[in-house]
Amino acid sequence: MNIAVIGSGGREHSICFKLKKSKKTKKLYCIPGNAGTLEICENINVDLENFEDLYKVILKKKIDLLVVGPETPLVNGIVDFFERKKIKVFGPKKDASKLEGSKVFMKKICREFNIPSAKYKEIKNIEEANLAIKEFNLPIVVKSDGLAAGKGVTICKSREEALKDVNKILNGKFKTSSKVIIEEFLNGEEASYFVITDGTNYIPMGSAQDHKRIGENDTGQNTGGMGAYSPSLLITEEVEKKIKKKIIEPTLEAMKGIGCLYKGILYAGLMIEKSEPKLIEYNIRFGDPECQVLMMRLKNDLLDLILSCLDNSLSNKKISWIDEPGITVVGASKGYPNKYEKNKEIQNIHLIKKDNKQQLFHAGTIKSNDNKILTNGGRVLNSTVVAKSLEEARNKANKILDTLEWENKYYRKDIGFKIINEK
Ligand code: AMP
Ligand code: GLY
Repeated sequence: MNIAVIGSGGREHSICFKLKKSKKTKKLYCIPGNAGTLEICENINVDLENFEDLYKVILKKKIDLLVVGPETPLVNGIVDFFERKKIKVFGPKKDASKLEGSKVFMKKICREFNIPSAKYKEIKNIEEANLAIKEFNLPIVVKSDGLAAGKGVTICKSREEALKDVNKILNGKFKTSSKVIIEEFLNGEEASYFVITDGTNYIPMGSAQDHKRIGENDTGQNTGGMGAYSPSLLITEEVEKKIKKKIIEPTLEAMKGIGCLYKGILYAGLMIEKSEPKLIEYNIRFGDPECQVLMMRLKNDLLDLILSCLDNSLSNKKISWIDEPGITVVGASKGYPNKYEKNKEIQNIHLIKKDNKQQLFHAGTIKSNDNKILTNGGRVLNSTVVAKSLEEARNKANKILDTLEWENKYYRKDIGFKIINEK
């Protein structure tokens, strides 16, 4: 079948890489894609806000299936739109996408259905904030309700700081949010847990450990993710059982019960303390860069899993993984997650060997008219390696980024530091 992957990051490149391996894939498109997807797909540049224009392309190219990578088109109802047009599309519908699109919605589900999560208050104005802030111990977590591209959360060390932040959000810091959540700070270690679900049945799609901070030793600002490894060692068999019973299953049941059947990938961002998982947030898609490692470790045919999800036959499937751990290290433009320069030539890219153990997934890259690969974003490339040990995988992944050269290259050399250094 002809398939189009929506998105342009490392996540989407790795999804294309995996779909390309399926015997059922005839022609693969990436919309809009990057210089990496261009090597294995046809890239199409369409405005993803304009579903009608996208529909015209889908018809022209005879595309049978859309696989949506990022959250924004899902929250905007891309699945509802294409289902109405009778085009197969993988991801949750608009109503169900509120699990990521609205933190107020997600927190209400947790409260109503007893899903372990941080205690919170919903805030609509500054008077409410003044009262609520007194009820929480420090630090206090302030969150904007809507999508904020990873920038919607502040951990506030004082009540004054928390009030200031609430004020900023109420005054329109994010176009997507008029409401604010104040919540208790959770201690513990974070982990990402993924499932694929048709709304009733689900199967685990692996676990990973993201590294959100820009600086080594988890310092500095939050980013979309500077690197990840999989599997997460925090998710033991016992913890996984709890995640399923206390978090995933009640959520899927709740969503079904309120008429928002959840279909697609569900990504639980968890805080784990003393083997007790609590839900920090839901995402309605694969994580980036977590997906890149999962796609290297997944043995199953991804297209087969997606099609089983769409025709409700997931319960017959069994997922299997390469035993070896994997890591992905993000090569970025210095300055990210704030201002950074683009259009820097990436050198030595042709020297990187790519096989089943190592890949270079592109994120913010573009091919110039004279066939050079240029930087085109904050997160530029993902060096993804599977090896016998995480340490070996990290050494190899870092070496790949050392081989590549571009002006203002930056990457964290310490991905996995919490477990690699403990040995
Ligand atoms: P979110 O966008 O909700 O995933 O939050 C971004 C990051 O903020 C998370 O990955 C955590 O590191 C941190 N965070 C969010 N909520 C809490 C919380 N209640 N307690 C501690 N850390 C939090
Ligand atoms: N890596 C975090 C995310 O994709 O949301």
